Amino acid sequence: MTSPPTIDAARFLDRLRALAGVGRDAQGRLTRLAASDADRAGRDAVAGWMREAGLEVRVDRIGNLLGLWRPEGAQGDPVMIGSHIDTVVDAGTYDGCVGVLAGLAVVEALREAGGRPAHPLAVAAFTNEEGVRYAPDMLGSLVYAGGLAAEAALATVGVDGTVLGEELSRIGYAGPHAPGFLRPRAYVELHVEQGPVLEREGTAIGAVAAVQGISWQEVTIEGAANHAGTTPMALRRDAGVAAARVVTWLRARARAGNGRSVATVGRLRLEPEAINVIPARAVFTVDLRDPDAGRLAALEADLAERLDQVARAEDVAVTVRRLARFDPVAFDPGLVRAIEAAATRRGLSVRRMISGAGHDAQMMARLCPAAMIFVPSAGGISHSPHEHTSEAELVAGATVLLDVVRRLSGPPEEPAE
Ligand code: GLV
Ligand code: MN
Ligand code: MN
Repeated sequence: MTSPPTIDAARFLDRLRALAGVGRDAQGRLTRLAASDADRAGRDAVAGWMREAGLEVRVDRIGNLLGLWRPEGAQGDPVMIGSHIDTVVDAGTYDGCVGVLAGLAVVEALREAGGRPAHPLAVAAFTNEEGVRYAPDMLGSLVYAGGLAAEAALATVGVDGTVLGEELSRIGYAGPHAPGFLRPRAYVELHVEQGPVLEREGTAIGAVAAVQGISWQEVTIEGAANHAGTTPMALRRDAGVAAARVVTWLRARARAGNGRSVATVGRLRLEPEAINVIPARAVFTVDLRDPDAGRLAALEADLAERLDQVARAEDVAVTVRRLARFDPVAFDPGLVRAIEAAATRRGLSVRRMISGAGHDAQMMARLCPAAMIFVPSAGGISHSPHEHTSEAELVAGATVLLDVVRRLSGPPEEPAE
């Protein structure tokens, strides 16, 4: 290196603010669902910044956006840095975007310092990480890692009845490259923690050693519509009541485990949805998570049993559709140690942790050594417009990312740890 590389904090944070402005509605709420018009606008901005940074922009068949830097003399597979820019509904501005834009900042820092990395570098923005519009979540990185065929993924029907492949074509991001066309030698992702641990402890950096398991299901309960005024309580087949029993049971079951289980019903729809009609149908989603594979499986088995009981007790029919299922994932121990060492060298406090949220890194771990860097989330809040991480914390995270990537991509005298 001719000069030590440093993150251009102003440029990184300016872009983060600019991206945060893409996809706001008239009320100012940010929603940039995968393969939507807002996503196209966000992708256009990121692709533009990638080109400005001198990267070759590539899009694969599932819409993953990749920026590649092949410095002169660099050889072999690239070191990949990535995350996503799709969001949940009424989202915050850090989830995913921080990882993509920090990746770009890292590559620019290395380029502008005049370095000659031994290996190429790639920055990735994966399609549909959030899974709000199309299930499963982490879909783009799952396909990239070979866990789901591109054809099947492209045929996915969204909650709004759209087909992912058609929407990607419509927004101009159905690319020609086969997912996985760049096989990374290592993958590193910076992300906001989205939980309370780092802030509570006053720790600057999380070295993420694992991601907990995730199970998503859609439950449909069929009862019978009838008159709300004339139908005696004993004669009802009320799908709404049956759904409510499952919702409250889920909370009690997750709490009773006395472990790390969490359970959420985030979507619930009743039909025909009228004040004086007994609900004929209830459709709701169940999000179950646990860091332990056995406990997650037990939670799923107990839910199945409970659904049977409720079906009998309420005289309703229950069907279940699986939307996503991922076991817990352990990251590469050497890479986790490299993150800890990089933080310590920068004088930043660091702790190992398990991610409660799902991330593209857990899919990329199927392909290559992968790990994640977390920075604190104020109040542990995420998937909310109140999501916040300070500028100093973001730059600290990006700096650790830079150091880790520099060592991974460095000349032979700077081997990866
Ligand atoms: C992704 O954000 C998730 O639901 O964990
Ligand atoms: Mn995310
Ligand atoms: Mn998210």
